[in-house]
Amino acid sequence: MSQSLVYGIDVGTTKIVALVGRVDSERGLVEVLSFGETPSQGLRRGVVVDREAAANSVAAAMDACGMGDEPVVVGIAGSHISSFNTEVTLLNRSRNLAITERFIHKLETEARQTGVGEDEQVIHVVPRGYVLDGSEGVQQPVGLAARKVTMRAHVVTGAISSIQNLLHAVEDCGARVTQVVLEPLASAEACLQAADRDAGVTLVDIGGGTTDVAVFLRGGLVHTAVIPIGGESFTSDVAYGLKIPYETAERLKVRYGTVLSRIVDPVAAVRVDRRHYNAHFLSQILEYRAQEVFDYVSDSLRKNGLDNRFSGDTVLTGGGSLLDGMTELSEDVLGVPARTAAPLGVEGNSNVVQKPQYSTSIGLLGYAAKTDKGKPKSEGATVNSFGSIVAAIKSWFRGE
Ligand SMILES: Nc1ncnc2c1ncn2[C@@H]1O[C@H](COP(=O)(O)OP(=O)(O)OP(=O)(O)O)[C@@H](O)[C@H]1O
Ligand SMILES: [Mg+2]
Repeated sequence: MSQSLVYGIDVGTTKIVALVGRVDSERGLVEVLSFGETPSQGLRRGVVVDREAAANSVAAAMDACGMGDEPVVVGIAGSHISSFNTEVTLLNRSRNLAITERFIHKLETEARQTGVGEDEQVIHVVPRGYVLDGSEGVQQPVGLAARKVTMRAHVVTGAISSIQNLLHAVEDCGARVTQVVLEPLASAEACLQAADRDAGVTLVDIGGGTTDVAVFLRGGLVHTAVIPIGGESFTSDVAYGLKIPYETAERLKVRYGTVLSRIVDPVAAVRVDRRHYNAHFLSQILEYRAQEVFDYVSDSLRKNGLDNRFSGDTVLTGGGSLLDGMTELSEDVLGVPARTAAPLGVEGNSNVVQKPQYSTSIGLLGYAAKTDKGKPKSEGATVNSFGSIVAAIKSWFRGE
């Protein structure tokens, strides 16, 4: 049985989670051996804005988890992220025309260099399929024979500065970052099954600072997006609308909030800290924001040529998906069935982490396990232990 220890740090806008897990890749299960969580400081909308404060939070989570200088996989989000689909073609010059891992790696290296701005770094090259001498629809080309090979890939990039700031905050705590993973891809790893991806699915992770989107069609990743609105925006709106402190608004939202104002009695009152508030007004504030989030998701799909009627069901996750009525509103706006999902296939501390707000955290362990096996190294941005992104980029351009 192949089992290995894996380490992840989910640097979220509201919470930092450090985890140690054991992955049983044959059975597709993650066992959480240790888990540490602290409130997050120094982040705004998914990006580090105060290195020292962020590092202190990461250090506290690592301490709580008992993590030292192990190699960790870290999640990344923020509005500096962009993505696009591309295709690259190379001639296979090997004598027997066999396609090797090395040849696929060359295609990925080539894809890394298409359309990337000077201040950006490629975070992922995710192959979507291959065309071998004109034959479409190949998913596993290694071992097949072809002269002309085209790789279709989804490329995710981020601002070098934002990636550096994240790496610095984590590495200030002594951790060694081996891979940076786009958060919605980690969440998808945790919440989706192969059948979901085959049928077509839009994963929407509503966190505290951002809403992250990943769309899969016919098994492959076709679109990713990071929307700079999350649960914190909902709470801020309630605080502003009701003229109450943020903490009171957060409690009101979690305890009594819904985004379906039509189901709330117009004269009903809810009580927090011995004060009464109109429940209908509360739901209208939340509904307005939720509508905006799903409108953004819909726009993002449409702008990328994805009609949501053909993009499959919507799977909501992240802490923000726990707000009452989110699946119903998602169905109203996007016009396809929606459900809320928590991480699948978790053993051990499962009652603690089997909640939507830990999807990214658990997914990072899944990514760590894949890298461990040496499989999709090229899929994630591999960074050296001192966060020297520039050195890493140079080596990619040299094709190393
Ligand atoms: N039961 C609940 N009802 C409504 N909202 C909730 C509930 N539980 C958590 N939330 C909201 O979820 C948000 C936090 O979600 P999550 O833990 O996924 O974010 P994060 O990972 O810290 O942030 P990000 O991924 O955006 O950087 C907060 O805004 C919080 O108010
Ligand atoms: Mg998150």
